[in-house]
Amino acid sequence: MGMEQDIEQVLFTEEQLRSRVQALGAEITRDFQGKDKLLLLSILRGSYIFMADLSRAIDLPCLVDFLSVSSYGGGTKSSGQVEIKKDISMDLEGYHVIVVEDILDSGNTLYYLMDLLKLRKAASVSICTLLDKPERRTKPITADYAGFTVPDAFVVGYGLDYDQKYRNLPYIGILKPEVYGG
Ligand code: IMP
Ligand code: MG
Repeated sequence: MGMEQDIEQVLFTEEQLRSRVQALGAEITRDFQGKDKLLLLSILRGSYIFMADLSRAIDLPCLVDFLSVSSYGGGTKSSGQVEIKKDISMDLEGYHVIVVEDILDSGNTLYYLMDLLKLRKAASVSICTLLDKPERRTKPITADYAGFTVPDAFVVGYGLDYDQKYRNLPYIGILKPEVYGG
């Protein structure tokens, strides 16, 4: 009765995730050396596990904050409508913001957020996404840091959900289409 029976294929194991996240952290540490106003901004809820691991792989003093948006509803396709459910709690002016996302899919969410963060006078805005699904992109958004490229399939685990479930799966896998009626 576990979760494994709902997974069609494992894409990234715990070990692969760990080593890739360490490498991303090291890259960010190099790139943001000497920038004293650094903020890691996690997009809830999908990036919560990635954020926890990535932030500990970055060896720089930085702040963390969280923003919650919704665009999906209960389905597997983006509605295109982005709504802020929980806003940032701090003033962004002068901060180098690294947006931490679970997956960059259509690009709708980040397209909307990039504008918003720039309006709030961030010194710079970069995107760090664990997964990139470029085949489905409809907005001109590219990640500055991306963990892995994934095929056009619905993936879950390591924070990513289907209908709010499977976030606690410790690895990333493709969900069996029969689980979501696909
Ligand atoms: P976008 O706005 O279409 O780029 O989608 C961004 C959000 O959709 C991500 O932050 C995820 O929460 C969700 N999403 C997109 N593809 C998947 C997937 O394969 N599995 C789980 N969530 C996904
Ligand atoms: Mg998300």
